[in-house]
Amino acid sequence: MSKRKILVTSALPYANGPIHLGHMVEYIQTDIWARFQRLRGNTCYYVCADDAHGTPIMLRAQQEGIEPQKLIDKSNIEHQADFAGFNIAFDNYHSTHSDENRKLSEAIYLAAKNGGHIAQKVIKQSYDAKAEMFLPDRFIKGECPKCHAADQYGDNCENCGATYATTDVINPYSVITGTTPIEKDSEHYFFKLNNFDAFLKEWIKSDSVQPEIANKMKEWLQDGLNDWDISRDTPYWGFKIPNTEDKYFYVWLDAPIGYLASFKNYCTKNNIDFDAFWKVDSKAEVHHFIGKDIAYFHTLFWPAVLKSANYRLPTAVHCHGFLKINGLKMSKSRGTFIQARVFLNHLPPEPLRYYYAAKLSNTVDDIDLNLEDFQLRINSDLIGKVINIASRTASFISKKFDGQLAKELPDTTLYQQFIDISDSLADAYETRRYSKAMREIMALANLANQYIHENQPWVLIKDDATKEQVQGICTQGVNMFRALITYLKPVLPELAEKSEQFLNAGALNWNSPATPLLNTRINKFKPLMTRIEKDKMDAMLEENKQVLEAMQDSQVSTTSAKSPLKSDPISDTIEYDDFAKIDLRVVKIMKAAHVKGADKLLQLTLDLGGETRNVFAGIKSAYDPSELEGKMTVMVANLAPRKMRFGISEGMVLAAGAGGEDLFVLNPDEGALAGMRVK
Ligand code: 2FM
Ligand code: ZN
Repeated sequence: MSKRKILVTSALPYANGPIHLGHMVEYIQTDIWARFQRLRGNTCYYVCADDAHGTPIMLRAQQEGIEPQKLIDKSNIEHQADFAGFNIAFDNYHSTHSDENRKLSEAIYLAAKNGGHIAQKVIKQSYDAKAEMFLPDRFIKGECPKCHAADQYGDNCENCGATYATTDVINPYSVITGTTPIEKDSEHYFFKLNNFDAFLKEWIKSDSVQPEIANKMKEWLQDGLNDWDISRDTPYWGFKIPNTEDKYFYVWLDAPIGYLASFKNYCTKNNIDFDAFWKVDSKAEVHHFIGKDIAYFHTLFWPAVLKSANYRLPTAVHCHGFLKINGLKMSKSRGTFIQARVFLNHLPPEPLRYYYAAKLSNTVDDIDLNLEDFQLRINSDLIGKVINIASRTASFISKKFDGQLAKELPDTTLYQQFIDISDSLADAYETRRYSKAMREIMALANLANQYIHENQPWVLIKDDATKEQVQGICTQGVNMFRALITYLKPVLPELAEKSEQFLNAGALNWNSPATPLLNTRINKFKPLMTRIEKDKMDAMLEENKQVLEAMQDSQVSTTSAKSPLKSDPISDTIEYDDFAKIDLRVVKIMKAAHVKGADKLLQLTLDLGGETRNVFAGIKSAYDPSELEGKMTVMVANLAPRKMRFGISEGMVLAAGAGGEDLFVLNPDEGALAGMRVK
């Protein structure tokens, strides 16, 4: 069969937050598929990028007092490190804030405009009069106009998947100030999606989407397609729309174009023909892996945008479900928004890759990471079944036969089953039914263990009459192990690499099991994976809780002190009696120090006039520790001590200012006020 040329993408993560285990479902799913294709000998490029535009990123950078470019650069480095930690083998990882993406976005927009697919309309837009800015969709919340679910975002509903104009939201409020947005006129640019109604109805039939998604698309198409607003008013962080003064492309216009841009960047660096993948009559395949929440963008807008600019269409858009943890939606308060980095601080990546594979299918059903089950499954399947085959047989080959494998297999009928499974497994991988593949592989692992158990090489080796049989039995064991590792290689690349070193016969490819390893020397067997211990998982969860708490703490202090507003809204008032409860003291900063591993915190030792307190304060962006020592500040002295990731914080220092470098702690000239009550 001729080799396929495939381009694979995963959704581009936003550049303003850490990667968590929910994200990892998709990257692991895609990476397994891409590795499988390469193992089969196909050419398969896997590209991704950070999704670097939009108001949330602009506001976040403002909050941190840094330029958006700095924020997205930092995020890009962190994301790539997290992905590398889980052995995600991207061929290229780029950013949507790139020259390639700017050029492609402009060109695609202009092609759509020339084709008559862009309309300009003055529309009423939600405006936060207090914040003096048009409100992006995500900064308005309210009731979904379709299904009436409460607290839905202004552009789409997480409950029913509908997308709509922000002005259609029922009982809207600004997430920034809590005020009710007013409506203000603004000229916007629209992509005339309805021009593609017939085309999309036809495209649904092409098997490019899963049946569940096709059904959803039919509903959307039946409801009728609205013009899609692709512009945003200044201030906005993104690309300016050509021939406009102050209009920007909406982030969702240039985000999927980021797939092309990342690939273009890769093609330029590696002398690959970009057009061979993207021109209209391309023979190559393009596969997008995404979560079901962004199906609308990828199965309606995206094919229509590509079509409008005369690009080829995706071969397939593969949707997956969400990750649940212990049967429940991931939650910050339960501490189950597990960050990829925190997981990697305590546990190796491959068990999670295997666990996800054992759960993933080609449907949009959610998958559950049950931590107890995770531990049992890894220890039982990978350690107890697969690796056990090698550890029970390889040591005899090394110790008693000088590493030399036998010239033939004693049980070719059994081994044939390990060859015959190849097509069925390939089909399961190809169609993303990984759980089926893992089940079939483990069924073979059971057969292999049964064979070893029945043949008892550890008994035969003791008797000179039967000693020679052991070489054959163990050669059979090593070869069954080798076949299993080959089939697991897309899921467990690190285990496969260590096994390849041990087997001493080069890199395994999908057809390797067809030719068993005989009459050759293997290397000494070394442990390939360690068991998952409960204390490691507990420590991981504990660290994650503390990281989430620290994030929430810094968000609380930054949203109140560093709002992009000119003046913060005064929310509910408190009574004097409430205020009187707060014990405010002027205190002296005796010592200030950086906190290892904390982005925002400084550790302060405060003198309350005879009593010393340890306080963590989120003022690192504004102060160098040496500037603070010996100065005075105000603290809340009767705040209950709080256990943080870095230690116990015994109070809170008050700071004011716009954020970033402009955060001020009180600094009177005299140093004699330590411990004095303020009220
Ligand atoms: O939903 C998200 O996280 C988006 N950043 C995904 C973008 S995917 C593609 F269109 F760029
Ligand atoms: Zn809804």
